[in-house]
Amino acid sequence: MACAGVALFVLAVMTVACAASDTPPRERLLLDFGWKFHLGDDWGLAERLDKAGVSTGPAGRSFGDNGWRTVNLPHDWVPELPFDRNADGSHGFKPVGRGYHTNSVGWYRRTFELPETDKGRRLMLEFDGVYRDCRVFFNGYLIGHHESGYSSFGYDITDMANCGGNNTLAVRVDASEFEGWFYEGAGIYRHVWLVKTSPLHVAADGTFVYSQFPGNVPEGPAALIVQTQLQNDHSNEADATIQCEVIDPQGKSAAQFKESVALGPWAEKDSVQKSSVSAPVLWSPESPQLYKLVITVLSGGAVVDRTETEFGIRTVAFDVDKGFLLNGKHYEVKGTCNHQDHAGVGSALPDRLQYFRVSRLKEMGDNGIRTSHNAPTSELLEACDRLGMLVMDENRLLGSDAQNMDYLAGQIRRDRNHPSVFIWSLFNEEDQQTTPAAMRAAQTMQRLVHRLDPTRLCTAAGNVGNVFEGVNSILDVRGWNYYPTAVDGYHKDHPTQPEIGTEQASTVSTRGIYANDKERGYVSAYDENAPPWANTAEYWWKIFAARPWLSGGFVWTGFDYRGEPTPYGWPCINSHFGILDTCGFAKDNFYYYQSWWSDRTVLHLLPHWNWPGKEGEEINVRCLGNCEEVELFLNDQSLGRQAMPQNSHLQWKVKYAPGTLLAKGYKGGQVVAETKVETTGAPAAIKLTPDRASINADGEDISILTVAVTDSEGRIVPVAGNMIDFNLAGPGKIIGVGNGDPSCHEPDVYFASAPSHSVALKDWRMKRVSSASDRPEVAEKFDDGQWEKVDVARDQGPLEPGESAIYRTRLTLTPEEASAPAVAVSFGMIDDDGWVYVNGQRAGESHDWQSQPSFDIGKFLHEGENTIAVAVKNREGPGGVNKGVQLEIQDKPLTLQWKRSVFNGLAQVIVQGGKEPGVLRLEARGEGLTTASVNISANAAAARPAIP
Ligand code: GAL
Repeated sequence: MACAGVALFVLAVMTVACAASDTPPRERLLLDFGWKFHLGDDWGLAERLDKAGVSTGPAGRSFGDNGWRTVNLPHDWVPELPFDRNADGSHGFKPVGRGYHTNSVGWYRRTFELPETDKGRRLMLEFDGVYRDCRVFFNGYLIGHHESGYSSFGYDITDMANCGGNNTLAVRVDASEFEGWFYEGAGIYRHVWLVKTSPLHVAADGTFVYSQFPGNVPEGPAALIVQTQLQNDHSNEADATIQCEVIDPQGKSAAQFKESVALGPWAEKDSVQKSSVSAPVLWSPESPQLYKLVITVLSGGAVVDRTETEFGIRTVAFDVDKGFLLNGKHYEVKGTCNHQDHAGVGSALPDRLQYFRVSRLKEMGDNGIRTSHNAPTSELLEACDRLGMLVMDENRLLGSDAQNMDYLAGQIRRDRNHPSVFIWSLFNEEDQQTTPAAMRAAQTMQRLVHRLDPTRLCTAAGNVGNVFEGVNSILDVRGWNYYPTAVDGYHKDHPTQPEIGTEQASTVSTRGIYANDKERGYVSAYDENAPPWANTAEYWWKIFAARPWLSGGFVWTGFDYRGEPTPYGWPCINSHFGILDTCGFAKDNFYYYQSWWSDRTVLHLLPHWNWPGKEGEEINVRCLGNCEEVELFLNDQSLGRQAMPQNSHLQWKVKYAPGTLLAKGYKGGQVVAETKVETTGAPAAIKLTPDRASINADGEDISILTVAVTDSEGRIVPVAGNMIDFNLAGPGKIIGVGNGDPSCHEPDVYFASAPSHSVALKDWRMKRVSSASDRPEVAEKFDDGQWEKVDVARDQGPLEPGESAIYRTRLTLTPEEASAPAVAVSFGMIDDDGWVYVNGQRAGESHDWQSQPSFDIGKFLHEGENTIAVAVKNREGPGGVNKGVQLEIQDKPLTLQWKRSVFNGLAQVIVQGGKEPGVLRLEARGEGLTTASVNISANAAAARPAIP
């Protein structure tokens, strides 16, 4: 007990310290802003295997990264690379990955202060996703090596942290290998967080809350089960009270309960608490009602931790005859598979883009996403929870080895509170899936999932027909990738196993294109083309819609993605499988699915009606929609009325004449919808439409703008391809542009590479001194005329171990150079410790002879003669200033000319606000087009707590 008393005393002291500085017991700080980035494998692994804490080069503490580019996370550097027809097409023809090592290794560095008051707290770094194979160094220590590009990971940095001082985080990312056969990006492409807690705290992903109903039928009160994993990172025992409060969707307290737990020193403990919620409000895609579980951990009378977990109350089940059951009723999954990249930004999506994408899919009537073929980012799941979208949460690889099981366990623990997740998928299309070994591995994986999550079942995306051997024989739910004609036979042969369409369709089409064109890499948007293993939208959906026991399914894919340019190769650089293009602009099939998946009245005509030169030729006109009957008119002349077949479309052969093609849709004999396509005039103007004209000035929020080229009457010209220049004024920036053209090789991003010139600083004088600190010789004016001349370009310096010296040089600057936007001084080597002074002012220091430090010195310089002095102390071997010193002068301010051509009339610009409120004014210009501009207001908003 004496020990426990000490523990309580220490915790109480700490709580007082936190309270004094108003610091909550748990902080989760975003570590996304102001990273330094360098592309290239210039320092190898930079780790030392012989000694700890002395990693070299950029992995070390004192490396000068001034010359590196500043980036914010999430960051994917692949969109920054040019296209290369010799590169791997399935990854999008970018010179990255196998064979392109230099472009595949990137270094990120970030220094930050930790306050003195963090002493005694637990500090945890969390990485949501890094593609891939990264080594993380903290204060010179290698703290972790994580290979998977898709799973989240974290490291406890408490021991290495410098509280009350500066800390250095460096991450080497190596994307030389691929994990998939689709675009994967490269870099720290998801968020990074620093989590600070008390020593006694809820473990990472240590909360699991779920509900249960008798017989899995959601009637009456819901039993609530809360599992909490408490961690006592302290050498004393601790008594804790876990206090739970459930807040209902209206914000009212719905349940309160608590439990006491005693933990040994440095121990973890799982506790299970049971309660109930009477008259629960159920979660569904149509009504995404969320509850919140607030856990407060108390010890010694003080609050030592507090966490909040959103969850939903609903039941999910599978029935062999009724298929998927949501809240006890058959629920047809009308879903899409999606990779994680978007136009402009690659795989580095601001959170808001997840909401945009989910909303676009919901507009189509899509109620499910399969996170093919990897663990998603948590923000996608949050968007699905909040907007209402089911998720098939997929693991990357089959395997029961320790590493794969570890990744899988992490995914389940992280994602199991999300009500949107209704099933786990163990893998996609594994070559070995029919073998006994694969079967055993899948069984081991499924067992792990069931242990961590008793509420959901497992499937796997199997591209085999009526085959039970191997994995299918053990799966909770048989998953169907393609083979729609084999489903009846399998169902008959295996009547006790539920089924779901994990991946179907793979229809290929290009937005606004109505004839295949291999040379330009376009596929007709009539629902006609699919590779040999695949089917059209109409073909698969008719089969699945008629068989409720199949539970519905997921289309390959909702959005086009980079890579897999099926059915062609170069010049195509992205897929054609999407129902929406890479920007989220609808292709015609969008309206097919919307007709049969949503409850909106839909009427859509294709193709467009701009066919000069085809006058009198027959054009295949299709109408998509869900009206009972449709009548078509060309220039006011009826071309006949037809009844719309269920899950199908209507077609007319129409002799082309410019003008207006109009469709009227009837229900119960009444016109309920009208739509038209018109022959437009030539491109005349630009139209900018933001998805939101008002955003939060929190440094993260974005507005997604549609750029349309219209004729003089404001009609979008469906064949326009004009190049548009963009300028943004105000507190924000453009972060990416796209147009959905699968063969477009224009850049998605423009980043700062400023015009600059460098000057070698050669005339140095040196004087040995007894100590390197507090030297008058570093002043701007000092008579060094009698000092020894020294060549700083040599590989080794003249100083003996233990010797110190002052190096001085003078440089004369023109008025232009003195007021250049940026000036840096870069050293080839300062061996071992160096303190750099410019005109007597301290500009920086270096303590790693292997680093090539660089310092921003613009602010210390003036026109005329300036002095740079370096106080050097040599520790071991020969030392001094070596390998050359360069002055890098940036000649012009950075002005980035963003541009993008429209593709079939449309393009997209993604604009991100800064942390300053104000008006962002986007202007778009194109030759011969009326200029457009739009204002987006960035409103004062609380930014997420972040590391400054
Ligand atoms: C599937 C595969 C997907 C994608 C698709 C294209 O077999 O699971 O990742 O490659 O084919 O049709």
